[in-house]
Amino acid sequence: MIRTIKELRCWSRRQHNAQKRIGLVPTMGALHEGHLSLVQAANQCCEATLVSIFVNPAQFGVHEDFHQYPRPLENDLRLLQTAGSPEVFVPEITEMYPAGFDASVHIGGVTQPFEGVFRPTHFDGVTTVVLKLFLASEADLAFFGQKDFQQVCVIRKMVMDLNIPVEIVVCPTVREPDGLAMSSRNRYLTETQRSQTVVLSQSLTLAEKMIIDEKIRDVETIRQKIRSKIETAPDIKIDYIAIAHPKTLYELTTIDSEVVILIAAKIGTTRLIDNILISVVDN
Ligand code: PAF
Repeated sequence: MIRTIKELRCWSRRQHNAQKRIGLVPTMGALHEGHLSLVQAANQCCEATLVSIFVNPAQFGVHEDFHQYPRPLENDLRLLQTAGSPEVFVPEITEMYPAGFDASVHIGGVTQPFEGVFRPTHFDGVTTVVLKLFLASEADLAFFGQKDFQQVCVIRKMVMDLNIPVEIVVCPTVREPDGLAMSSRNRYLTETQRSQTVVLSQSLTLAEKMIIDEKIRDVETIRQKIRSKIETAPDIKIDYIAIAHPKTLYELTTIDSEVVILIAAKIGTTRLIDNILISVVDN
């Protein structure tokens, strides 16, 4: 296990000297099958896999769950042994943000809507830490889950705008048997809350059916259907239902080619997000 950026640089140099490509899987720990699928993808594409585990304070708002966020490090390390025993980087907060740290990476445009409205400082925290991880690890490829769709758009934009020499690989969302997207925050849910969350993924498959099978193209009709489905769960409060272009994240009024539907909702104090990417081929 690597604890410092200095050690990480030595490790990365050794991998590159041995002609090995480095695949980075950045995580905040509390690993689940979704993370492990990213590790497996990295193992397949790269000769050296690195998993970072760091609960990044910079991406939590003041009233968010930074202090409650689960940190089951022993269990995470055990799970990683079942996924090919990648190298693991677990820095202390002071290693990533030493006293006097005063930098922030801000990406415009795609950071502004949706999550940006509800979590205005979140993406600056994500891009700052992810850029630091890219620089320290000299990763050739980096693996992210589609579950955090807007985060992927933001990271891709950062990579493009700052000419960062890393390839971003996006892996499909891994779901529980009833459809709930896997998330470290799912462990906050009580049994009653957990049973209600099924409407989130169901609302997205319903929207997909409307678009693909019923050929409905009007965004408001689709949004209304998603809303009605989610509102059948008495304790879920919707933050947003966005129907947008997958690259620009501009909201659409009608659907004509590719579309992403993003939803965010709260149940109790737990905030959940999900999305679906749909390709429309009209003759
Ligand atoms: O997706 C996450 O878990 C985090 O946002 C990331 C990319 C590890 C940065 O802290």
